[in-house]
Amino acid sequence: MSIKKIVKPFVPEFILEARRNRIEGIEPFLFEAKGDVKKDIREKYQYSGELADLFADNKTYMMHKWHHYIPLYDRYFSPYKGRKVRFLEIGVSKGGSLQMWRKYFGPDAVIFGIDINSDCKKLDGLSGQVRIGSQADPEFLASVVKEMGGVDVILDDGSHHMDHVAVTLKHLFPLMNDGGTYMIEDLHAAYWKRYGGGFKSKKNFFYEVGNFISDMHHWYHRRKVRKPSVSNHCTGIHIHDSIVVLEKSRVFRPVHSQSV
Ligand SMILES: C[S@@+](CC[C@H](N)C(=O)[O-])C[C@H]1O[C@@H](n2cnc3c(N)ncnc32)[C@H](O)[C@@H]1O
Repeated sequence: MSIKKIVKPFVPEFILEARRNRIEGIEPFLFEAKGDVKKDIREKYQYSGELADLFADNKTYMMHKWHHYIPLYDRYFSPYKGRKVRFLEIGVSKGGSLQMWRKYFGPDAVIFGIDINSDCKKLDGLSGQVRIGSQADPEFLASVVKEMGGVDVILDDGSHHMDHVAVTLKHLFPLMNDGGTYMIEDLHAAYWKRYGGGFKSKKNFFYEVGNFISDMHHWYHRRKVRKPSVSNHCTGIHIHDSIVVLEKSRVFRPVHSQSV
C-alpha cells in the first residue's frame, strides 16, 4: 500500500490577494443600468408590494438596496406598519432609506437613523431624527434608544464590519422591546477580509449565528449559553442571502404533551 503525501500547492500571497479582490466586492452583482427594477423584483421574488414602488420610484434622496431585500423587509416589517413603531436604522448615508421607511411605516412611527459621518446631520428632521455617532459605542446606542423611548425594530445597515455587527447586536438587542425584530443586512461581508470576516474566520457573523442556534437549543445539550445578551431573549433566527433576522420575545422552557 502506498502512502501518498498530500502537498498543498504553494500560491504566492499576491495571487491570493488578487483572487480575493475579484470576489470581495459587490460590483459584479450590479443590475443593468436601464433595467426594470420593479419587474425584476416581481418576476424573481413574486413581490409587487408598496416597498418595490417606494424603492424603484425614488427620485429624491439616494438609497442603495439589493433587490431580494425588498420582499424580505416587507415580510418582517409589515406587522409594524401604521403603528407607533420605534424604528432605528444604523447607516443613514444619503437619507434615501429613512425617507422610504417614513412612507412605509407612516406618520405615527418614531424613526431614528444613526451614522458616524457628521454630514448626515443635515438630514436630521427630514424623515426622522438623525444622530451622529458610532454603532460600536454602547453609550451612544443607549442614549439614542433612551431618546426614542425604546426601540421595536432595528436595521443594521452600517459599517458591515464584523466587529461592529457583533458588538452592536450585543448591546442593542437587550434594549429592544419584546415583540421586536432585529435585522442585519449585507452579510456577504462576513466572507470578506476587509470587513473583518473570512470563510473560515470565527469572526464571520454566521459563526456567531451558530452560537445563537446552539444557545437556543441549550435545553438539549450540556454546553452553557455562550451569548446570553442575545440568546436569553431570542425566539427566532432567520437566515436569508446576506440577511439575518432575530426575533425577540420571552423564552420559555419547552414542554410537550399528548392529546388523544
Ligand atoms: C450602506 S450605507 C447606509 C445606506 C442606507 N441605509 C441606504 O440604504 O441608503 C452605510 C453607512 O454606514 C455608516 N457607517 C460606517 N461606519 C459606521 C459606524 N461605525 N457607526 C455608524 N455608522 C457607520 C457610513 O457612514 C454609511 O453612511
